[in-house]
Amino acid sequence: MKSKNGKVALITGANKGIGKEIARQLGMLGYTVVLTARDQKAGKKAAEELIAAGCDAHTVPLEVTNTDDIANLATYLEKNYAKLDVLVNNAGIALEWDGKPTNSEKIRRTLEVNLIAPYAITEALVPLLSVSDDARVINLSSQLGSIDAAENMWQYISSFMTVGYATSKAGLNMLTQIQSKTLADKGIAVAAAHPGWVKTDLGSDAAPMEVEEGASTVVSLVTIARDQFPNGQLVHKGVRIAW
Ligand SMILES: NC(=O)c1ccc[n+]([C@@H]2O[C@H](COP(=O)([O-])OP(=O)(O)OC[C@H]3O[C@@H](n4cnc5c(N)ncnc54)[C@H](OP(=O)(O)O)[C@@H]3O)[C@@H](O)[C@H]2O)c1
Repeated sequence: MKSKNGKVALITGANKGIGKEIARQLGMLGYTVVLTARDQKAGKKAAEELIAAGCDAHTVPLEVTNTDDIANLATYLEKNYAKLDVLVNNAGIALEWDGKPTNSEKIRRTLEVNLIAPYAITEALVPLLSVSDDARVINLSSQLGSIDAAENMWQYISSFMTVGYATSKAGLNMLTQIQSKTLADKGIAVAAAHPGWVKTDLGSDAAPMEVEEGASTVVSLVTIARDQFPNGQLVHKGVRIAW
């Protein structure tokens, strides 16, 4: 096993895609990684893969919209580590990218998973994050949640602009900004990351970026020196994206 650096990182929706790759890269850097997955079997399989690669990896079941699961997750972390250094709110959906018209139900579910769940999970884990001397929360957002991009780059992004997904990420951007202020006195820094357009089940095979590169924005936010952390900003590969 890689030598541990004493830090615990939790990544939601880490059974596949960008989340699993973030967990792998952080695990290889010595973080103890806790992968959550709504499908327990899939979570176990991902954790086993990472353990085989030399990571200190663990898995906890978490349907991100389930309040009992969130409470159980907090209990698990308290019992096993009594702190949390890094929370990556990664789990997300783009239900509306099915080629059919959107509707209120799809929008409601998208907001629940992409916006309300990160709020609820972060709130539940604030007591454990407060124990860390360098606590960081990274929210997986998107340039599609940037109102500036919608206003000025419409012709390039219009085919991806669905109401539920775009407003969920715009909301996540505002949540990031608010929490970067409200959690500052507890020593918790908060930023949003745009990973790029990445080949995953959500991003599709048409995407130009592989997961290794897609995970890099988050990994650099986790590892950057504390005094350089872009608190309250939306970032892609170290560069700020306009709201
Ligand atoms: N790929 C891109 O191009 C791109 C671009 C910008 C932003 N992002 C963001 O990056 C994040 C990761 O996306 P990805 O591309 O890696 O997608 P992905 O491969 O589809 O993975 C999404 C992960 O979220 C989990 N998830 C979805 N709904 C959940 C729920 N209700 N409870 C628990 N877990 C849930 C999935 O679990 P299951 O396997 O059980 O479904 C899966 O582990 C998302 O927030 C996405 O919006 C991606």
